[in-house]
Amino acid sequence: MSRTVYVNGAWLPEGEAKISVFDRAFLMADGVYEVTTVIDGKLVDFDGHAARLDRSLGELEMRSPVTREGLLEIHREIVRRNDLREGMIYLQVTRGAADRDFTYPEDAEPGIVLFTQAKGLVDSPAATRGLSVISVPDLRWRRRDIKTVQLLYPSMAKMEAKKAGADDAWMVEDGHVTEGTSNNAHIIKDGRIITRHLGSEILHGITRAAVLRYAREAGMEVEERAFTLEEAQAADEAFVTSASTFVTSVVAIDGARIGGGQPGPHARRLREIYIEKSRANAI
Ligand code: PDD
Repeated sequence: MSRTVYVNGAWLPEGEAKISVFDRAFLMADGVYEVTTVIDGKLVDFDGHAARLDRSLGELEMRSPVTREGLLEIHREIVRRNDLREGMIYLQVTRGAADRDFTYPEDAEPGIVLFTQAKGLVDSPAATRGLSVISVPDLRWRRRDIKTVQLLYPSMAKMEAKKAGADDAWMVEDGHVTEGTSNNAHIIKDGRIITRHLGSEILHGITRAAVLRYAREAGMEVEERAFTLEEAQAADEAFVTSASTFVTSVVAIDGARIGGGQPGPHARRLREIYIEKSRANAI
């Protein structure tokens, strides 16, 4: 079934959508993106994603091609046009098309693309089973707080995990876990969540922020600091968060089983709370 996608103001069947070969996102990964979840045909944490998009654009001195209200309208319209009940909306803003040059063009029109991906997210076999991860060195650039489309290293790391028979990879830098290839990494020890503090070393996950808020509201303690791989392997539970995985338990790290190799009670409860609150707050 052909989707309807949004490209620079036009609604098009996916096979007819085109962007320029001179687009700087294509040539230089000069673009940023967001992935927003849709549950029950509604947007989860739209404001958080819109705010982070603004921040990414600002850090790269890029202009937004649409207003916040315009962005919400386009998100709602793409859900409607594709009859999306559950899944994701991918949004990308690029600096635009310009003759290839390392300096930013002054006059390029920023480009915007959105498409949908229908997917069952709430009932996830991976969440029931739990994920196994391998560790890899974090070889990405140092501005991981900007959500750019330069995803080659995370993609290579995920391929390495797949070849090793695992689900994902946790990246390690200076002896500490930064994050997963496309999610934030957390551990639980003695009922307390330990999660890396915010900085330019990790993406400031929108799901991470919501889950930590809900955890604190539920009376759980949260410690925001870097943790080592060994600490993670000795934890009671481990989990990842992202727009597409919500809260999903990690049950093995480099072959060491966490919590007996089963999703643990705290992470399962956090997943339930997150889904319940997201459903209630979706717009
Ligand atoms: N990835 N860290 C990285 C490196 C990510 O790519 C993502 C999201 C996250 C979690 O952020 P959030 O909770 O805002 O989704 C953390 C998206 C889902 C992706 O690339 O598909």
